[in-house]
Amino acid sequence: MNPNNIYGNSAGSDFLSIINPSLGGNGEANANGDLSMNGNTNTTAAPIAGIAAPFSIPSQPQQFAQSQPQQPKKYAVEAIDLVKDYGTGENAVHALRNINVGFEKGKFTAIMGPSGSGKSTMMHTLAGLDSVTSGEVILGGQDITKMNDNQLTMLRRNEIGFIFQSFNLLPMFTAEQNILMPLTLAGDKVDRKWFNTLVETLGLTQRLKHRPNELSGGQQQRVAIARALISKPQVVFADEPTGNLDSVSSAEVLSFLKRSVREFGQTVVMVTHDAVAASYADRAIVFADGRIVSDVEHPTAEQMSDLLMKESERAARQSAAPTMDQLMNGKPRHAQTVR
Ligand SMILES: Nc1ncnc2c1ncn2[C@@H]1O[C@H](COP(=O)(O)OP(=O)(O)OP(=O)(O)O)[C@@H](O)[C@H]1O
Ligand SMILES: [Mg+2]
Repeated sequence: MNPNNIYGNSAGSDFLSIINPSLGGNGEANANGDLSMNGNTNTTAAPIAGIAAPFSIPSQPQQFAQSQPQQPKKYAVEAIDLVKDYGTGENAVHALRNINVGFEKGKFTAIMGPSGSGKSTMMHTLAGLDSVTSGEVILGGQDITKMNDNQLTMLRRNEIGFIFQSFNLLPMFTAEQNILMPLTLAGDKVDRKWFNTLVETLGLTQRLKHRPNELSGGQQQRVAIARALISKPQVVFADEPTGNLDSVSSAEVLSFLKRSVREFGQTVVMVTHDAVAASYADRAIVFADGRIVSDVEHPTAEQMSDLLMKESERAARQSAAPTMDQLMNGKPRHAQTVR
């Protein structure tokens, strides 16, 4: 799978390939909403527990359940000595340089940094969408870098919620069918109480029968949030979830992400370029050139703007100054673009 496609396809096919690679591509599901043709006959999962304990791990298909260890203590997901290089030798890009960071349960964390600093790579490796060069990713108490493809698919389907910049809803399905898609694909029973809580909280009750093209951008993103939360995942990853929204819709989406953390105990990790969006989070981490350069509790928009400005200036100075290697060889250095 090419991780660069994952967050950019509004047709929704990449969402399917994340949680069910055998479907991948377009036209996997027919227009009647019948997804039984996916060959997944797992209907053994027990009903999901009530909303009093909404984020307990849902029942797992056998293969995943066997390797399910004890609950982790503090972190929903943790990176240990995480290194990700693209390419080798002279052409290697060091996208992540020995990252050590834990994302606490029930906390909303923003990841910021210049374009090319490694934010998406970080998210893809944390979500098991991209391999690592070395190091560990502990999610739900397991090192996911040791998992095979099937285990990773189960992990993404059951333990991770995804929210994309371009919503990634399936255009031929209604809002309700889109929200329920992860459960439909897994053959899991719908917890109607939880479904109702989500759609009421997100103000979608009157929109459930509409298809994505009959919804505003903000409404589509709220459907995508409900879809991410419906399976009560360990962690929700959102890559620039407000990137395509106006300021009012952005505020709605961010407020709901915050509420999902406060009221439902959800863990949310969100990549954003927007300092105002980051100010909704409990914590903001700033990446630069594959490293974490700042880690701020209770970030404010002003604070994050200042930090990003400084980081942009530093990156610009660095890319302008010739390195010793350049002086010796006359080669251009890898420039980091700054948004
Ligand atoms: N598949 C790939 N092959 C080679 N290099 C890659 C690949 N994906 C990412 N990179 C490189 O890794 C570095 C980090 O990229 P990444 O996409 O994580 O940045 P980002 O912080 O998410 O940027 P943006 O804000 O533009 O989305 C960049 O130098 C990028 O060019
Ligand atoms: Mg990115």
